[in-house]
Amino acid sequence: MSDFDVVRSRRGTGSYKWDTTVGEGLLERGAYPLSVADMEFRTPAAVREAIKDFAESGFFCYTDADGEYRDAVRGFMSRRHGWNIDNEWITCTGGVVCAINTAVRAFSQPGEGVIIQTPVYYPFRTAIENNGRRLFENPLVTDADGNYVMNLAELETLASRDDVKMLLLCSPHNPVCRVWSASELRAVGDICLKNGVTVISDEIHFDITSKPHTVFTLADRRFAQNTVICTAVSKSFNLAGLGTSNVIIENEALRERFRKALASDGYTCINCVSRPATIAAYTLCDDWLDEVNAYIDANFELLFSYAERLPGVEICKREGTYLAWLDMRGLGFGSDEELDSFLQQQCLIIPDPGYWFGKGGSGFTRLNLASPRPALEAALERLSEKLMKR
Ligand SMILES: Cc1ncc(COP(=O)(O)O)c(C=O)c1O
Repeated sequence: MSDFDVVRSRRGTGSYKWDTTVGEGLLERGAYPLSVADMEFRTPAAVREAIKDFAESGFFCYTDADGEYRDAVRGFMSRRHGWNIDNEWITCTGGVVCAINTAVRAFSQPGEGVIIQTPVYYPFRTAIENNGRRLFENPLVTDADGNYVMNLAELETLASRDDVKMLLLCSPHNPVCRVWSASELRAVGDICLKNGVTVISDEIHFDITSKPHTVFTLADRRFAQNTVICTAVSKSFNLAGLGTSNVIIENEALRERFRKALASDGYTCINCVSRPATIAAYTLCDDWLDEVNAYIDANFELLFSYAERLPGVEICKREGTYLAWLDMRGLGFGSDEELDSFLQQQCLIIPDPGYWFGKGGSGFTRLNLASPRPALEAALERLSEKLMKR
């Protein structure tokens, strides 16, 4: 049995969530971090065992993504996502953010345009800006029921520009929790295909969903021509610190361009620990993945059960990711800094502020629900108590 309910402190481990990004004295006062997107659950026992055995061997050698590794990735994609890939389509990188930066260099020239759909995971923006490309935003909009949807008309206008070469698609979407439907993906893919825009589909959250996820190139097989799909074990099995990902590119010409750009970064072999970890995660841990999904679903139910007791807060409907997106504009704070200070100093909750995610994020907050339920419940109690008294 997994021990997801156990609340642990991970202070002093170099954790971004527990050490780097925590304000002075907050943890001492009982604050709990619901921030950086890794889990507060131990990686599955089978993965821990595989890493232990590997460490015992004593050899931390230059390591290749060999046949056994690729078979494990291929088996998982087929079993869990109905996606039949070839071993040859897989290219390993030092994480998805690294892959996105590499892709930006591979498929666009300095000064050319790349589209993102804000609010979105903020390294999308920096991958464009740091590489001297031009950022084009295609902000998400809400439909009559208040659900986030894409502005396809605007996407079409942007994609049809001669200087726009790429779309960075977040699927499932962090932070708005959407698992895009096959028809939404088809609409996006049609626009990009028609306009010669390369799609980088970041599907890192695809294993943590409450509805079936559609792999982008399965929405329409034609999309394999112009698509790069980023996957990883990191979100699904809490292995983010290994810095590893499997980028899956069906089109050989695109794959060669991507690999050339990756080689020019000097990335030639995989992190040796990620090999046994990935093989174990992708061959032995389906039950754990089902269990963690059920636990996260129940955490979202808990969050929604607080809806009435969080006046001024709208909780975004959730289809995927373990990240909750809360609209706090109704609380009437004068600035994002005031909202953040209220959450941290008064509610003792350490969130990721919504404005980090760009246009449409101001006044929002993102909370990480891959957290032990007792800690989450205590945090929601603190928030509710402060809001009911305002
Ligand atoms: C959409 C998305 N892509 C990529 C990453 C990070 O990927 P990696 O750690 O493999 O660089 C995250 C982490 O939160 C994410 O939400």
